[in-house]
Amino acid sequence: MSFSLAKLIEMRQSDQYDLHMKYISQHMARVQQIIGFNKIYTRGKGAYLWDENGVRYLDLLAGYSVFNLGRDHPIILQAMKEYLELERPTLVKMDCPLLAGLLAEELITHMTPGLDAIFFANSGADAVDTAVKFARYAVKKPRVVYVDHSFHGLTLGTLSINGGEDFKKGFEPLIPDTVKVALNDLDGLEKEFRKGDVAAFIIEPIQGKGVYIPEDNYLPEAQRLCRKYGALFICDEVQVGLGRAGKFLCCEHWNLEPDMVTLAKSLGGGYIPVSAVIMRREINNKVFGHLKRAQVHSTTFGQNDMGMAAGLATLHVMEEEKIVERSASVGTKLLAGLMALKEKHEMIADVRGRGLIIGIEFRPPRNLAMKAAWSAIEAAERGLFTQLIVISLMRDHQILTQVGGPGVNIIKLLPPLIIGDEEVDMIVNAFDMIMDETKNLRGRVWATSGELIKQAMSA
Ligand SMILES: Cc1ncc(COP(=O)(O)O)c(C=O)c1O
Repeated sequence: MSFSLAKLIEMRQSDQYDLHMKYISQHMARVQQIIGFNKIYTRGKGAYLWDENGVRYLDLLAGYSVFNLGRDHPIILQAMKEYLELERPTLVKMDCPLLAGLLAEELITHMTPGLDAIFFANSGADAVDTAVKFARYAVKKPRVVYVDHSFHGLTLGTLSINGGEDFKKGFEPLIPDTVKVALNDLDGLEKEFRKGDVAAFIIEPIQGKGVYIPEDNYLPEAQRLCRKYGALFICDEVQVGLGRAGKFLCCEHWNLEPDMVTLAKSLGGGYIPVSAVIMRREINNKVFGHLKRAQVHSTTFGQNDMGMAAGLATLHVMEEEKIVERSASVGTKLLAGLMALKEKHEMIADVRGRGLIIGIEFRPPRNLAMKAAWSAIEAAERGLFTQLIVISLMRDHQILTQVGGPGVNIIKLLPPLIIGDEEVDMIVNAFDMIMDETKNLRGRVWATSGELIKQAMSA
C-alpha cells in the first residue's frame, strides 16, 4: 500500500495534543492548554503561521532562531527539492564530501580573522560539546569557565556550563572542572585564570536567556585575559550568530577575534539540523593530530549532504537579501519603537537588544492596587506576570512569544530576520495596547491571573 503523508496528516491532525499527552510530554501539552496556546497550525510561510481556521499568527519565536529567513523560503525549498532529485550519495563516510567542503569554504569567508577550520555537527549543544572537548585537548588543561545566566544547551556536557541553576537541579553529578563567573566581573574571571588550569572561557556575546548585553569593555578584556593566560576564547553564537544581532557574528560588535565560534539553528535553513564549530587551524590540527586520530571525534550525521546543501542555500539567501543589514536596520526601528513605550508605561523596566534579539523586562507598578495584583501573581510563581502579557499577545493580537526563561519577567523577541515595517508596527502597537490594558485590573490582561495562580500553586 502506498504511503501518503498528506493523507495521514489530514486524518490525524486533530489528535496532535492527545498524542503528546499520551506518548510524549504530558506537561508540555498541559501548559499549552492552560495558556491557550494549543492551536492546530496547518501552514507556515515567512514570518507567519496559520491555524486550522485560517487565523494568521506573527511568529516571534522563529523556532528559537531556526527560521531566521522565514519559513519555507522559496530558494532553500528549491535547493532541498533539487538535492533530493539529484539522488547523490551522502554519508559514504570513507570519503571527503564535496558539499561539506563548499559550505566550509563559504562559511569561512564570513568569519573573523584566524578562524579557518570547521567541524560540522548536528545541534547547538553538539557544537558546544565539541568546542569544549577540543579546547581541553588543545590546551591540555581541564577547567572551563562560563558565565552566570548563560545557556549553551542541555546535554550533560553543556548542562555543566549552563548558568541557569534551575536546569541543573537533580541531574548532578555533571562533568567536573567547570566554573561559573558573573557577567562583567573581570576580576573574578582573572582570579580563575590565575589558578593556571583553565582551557577555555565560553560566552554568548549576548546572552539569549534574558537578553543580557555585556558592558562595553567586558568582552575585549575577557579576550585579552584569555590570551594572557593561554586559555581559548570561545564565542557561542548558536543563537546570536548568522545575522540575528545585526552582524554576521555578534562578536563583531566588539571587534573580537575568538579562537572558536559555534553556529547552529538557522544554518540548516529551517529544514535540516546543522551546526558547526569554526576554529583556528592549529586547534583542529592538535585534536586530529595524527592519522590514527583522524576519527577521534565525529558524529554520524555530521557533513550530511542535505544539511550542507541547506547551509549553502542559506548563506546564498543571506547575501542576496542582505539579511544582516536588514536585521540591523529593522532591529533599530523595533528597538526604538519599544523604547518609546518604556517612557509611557511604568511597568516596562527595560528594553534592550541588538539587531533582532530584543528583551523587554517588566517590573512592579507603583499604584497600590496594581502592585497588590502583581505581588499576588508573582508570589505564586516568579515570572507569572509576564505570562499574562504573553497570553494577551497571543489571544488578542495573534503574536507568538514566550517568557524569556525560568523565573524572569522578560519577553525575548526573536522574529525572523525578514520582517519589515508592517511587523514592527504590529509588535509595537500590540505591546502599547496591552500595557494600557494592564492598568485595568478588571480588564482582559488580568482575566487569566486567577487560573494561572491556581495552576502554579497546585504544581
Ligand atoms: C547560545 C546557545 N548555545 C547552545 C544552544 C543549544 O542548541 P540546541 O538546542 O540546538 O542543542 C542554544 C539553544 O538555544 C543556545 O541558545
